[in-house]
Amino acid sequence: MRQTIPTATIPTITKYRNHRSAMSQDILGYLENLAQQGDFLRIPLGLLGSAYFVNHPDLAQQVLLKQTKKFQKPFTVKYTAKGIFGENLFTSDGELWQVLRSIISPAFNAQRFDAYASIMTDYTTAMISQWRTGEVIDIPTAMMDLTLGITTKAFFGQDLRDNQIGQAIIGFIELFSQRISSFPVPSWVPIKSNLEMKRLFTLIDNHVSSIIVKRRRSGEDYGDVLSMLIKAQASDTTGLLTDKQVRNEVLNLFAAGYEVTAHSLAFTFYLISQHPEVEARLLDEINQVGEKPITISDLNQMPYLEMVLKESMRLLPVTAVVSRQATENVVINEYTIPKNSLVLIAPWTLHRRSDYFPEPLRFNPDRFHQYKDNIPKFAYLPFSGGSRICIGNAFAMMQMRINIAMILQRFKLTVPFDYELQPFFNFNTRPKNGLPMTIHARG
Ligand code: HEM
Repeated sequence: MRQTIPTATIPTITKYRNHRSAMSQDILGYLENLAQQGDFLRIPLGLLGSAYFVNHPDLAQQVLLKQTKKFQKPFTVKYTAKGIFGENLFTSDGELWQVLRSIISPAFNAQRFDAYASIMTDYTTAMISQWRTGEVIDIPTAMMDLTLGITTKAFFGQDLRDNQIGQAIIGFIELFSQRISSFPVPSWVPIKSNLEMKRLFTLIDNHVSSIIVKRRRSGEDYGDVLSMLIKAQASDTTGLLTDKQVRNEVLNLFAAGYEVTAHSLAFTFYLISQHPEVEARLLDEINQVGEKPITISDLNQMPYLEMVLKESMRLLPVTAVVSRQATENVVINEYTIPKNSLVLIAPWTLHRRSDYFPEPLRFNPDRFHQYKDNIPKFAYLPFSGGSRICIGNAFAMMQMRINIAMILQRFKLTVPFDYELQPFFNFNTRPKNGLPMTIHARG
C-alpha cells in the first residue's frame, strides 16, 4: 500500500488561469492532475474560500462516515435547489434529511424488489422489441428513456414518458444539472434558463400536485412511493412533510436516479463492446438462464455480470465527484479543515489509485474477485458511502443487471470504428458527443 502522509499543500495548475476555471473547463482532467500531487490538498477559490481535495480512503471515510455530522451538502447545491424548488432528500441535512430518509427508505426494502423487477423486465422487453438489426441508436438517449419509464412506473405508478410531464421532467433535470455545475445565477434573474426552469417546474408541480390531491381523496394505496409519502404525511408529527415536500421528493426520485443509471448503463455497453473476451464470458453466463425475462434469482446466478458492472462504475463513475461543506472546524488526521470549506471526494480519482486497483486504466472485471480483499470500502465509491450513501443503489444495481442481461441475450452492440469516447462532467459524467451504437440481432 502506498504510504501517505497527507499534506495540505496547494496544487499547481499549468494550463488554466486559476483553479475555478480549470474546474469549469475540464474537471476530470483537473482532478486527475490533483491526484498526481497528493492525497490531501488545499485548493484556493478566491472569495469562495478554500476547497480540500481528499483522495485517500481513510480520509474519505472520515468525511463520509466518522465525522459526517460536521459536514453538510455544499451551499452551491442548496442554493441551486432552493431558488427553484426548495429542499429534498438529496440537498437537505439535519432533521429534515433524517425524516425524509426514514420515510423514503422503505421504498427500497427488499420485499418491494420483486415488483420492481417485473417492471424492469417488462420495460426492457418492450424497448428491445422495437430494435432492428442495422439501426444506429444513441445509447444514453435510449437508456434515459428506458430508465425514466421504469422509475416513473415504479415510484409513481405511471409511465410519464410520453406525455408533456415526462418531457418537462427531462428538460427540467437537464437545466438543473447545468445550473448546479456552474456558479448559479440567482433564480430571480430573468435569464432564459431560469425562466424556462420555472415554466417547466410549474407544469410538473401542477401535475404532481393534482395527482396528490386525487390520491388523497380516493384514499387508495397504490403501493408506490407516492402512496407511501402520502401515508407518512398523515402521521407526520414534525410538520416537515408538507405537500410541497412530498412533491419535491417525487421529483427528486426521478432526478437523482434516472440520468445516472442511464449513463452508467451506456458506459457499460461501451466497455463491453471494446472487450470481446468480457462479452463472451458474460454471454456464457447469461445464456445459462435461457432467453426469458430475468428474475432476481437468475441475477444471483450471475456473479460475472455484477463484476462487469462494478468494474464499469469503477473506471467510469458517473458521479465523478462528491462534495461536502464543513459546518465547523474539522480535524482529519493532523489537519484542520476550517469551517465553511468545501471538501471534494472524487470517485473518479480514488478508483484510479494503482495501490488498490492495479493497472487502473485497464477494464478488468476480475479485479472484483481477485483483489477484492485489497479494496477498502471507501476506495470504491460509485454510490458514495456512509450515511448518505445512494438510497437507490440496490435498485439501480438490479435494474442495470436486468437491462444488460436481457439486451445482450438478444443483441450485440458495436460503436462506429472511428468513435472516440470522451467522458465529460456536467454534474454527472456522460459521453461528450453522445454514444452511437449499432444494433445486431444475435443469430
Ligand atoms: C447507477 C446509478 C446511480 C448512481 C451512480 C448514483 C450515485 C449516487 C451518489 C454518488 C450519491 C451520493 C451523493 C452525495 O453524497 O453527495 C447518491 C445519492 C442519492 N441517490 Fe443515487 N445513484 C444512482 C441511482 C439512483 C436511483 C435509481 C435513485 C432513486 C430511484 C437514486 C436516488 C438517490 C438519492 C435520493 C440520493 C440522496 C440520498 C441522501 O442524501 O440521503 N440514485 N446517488
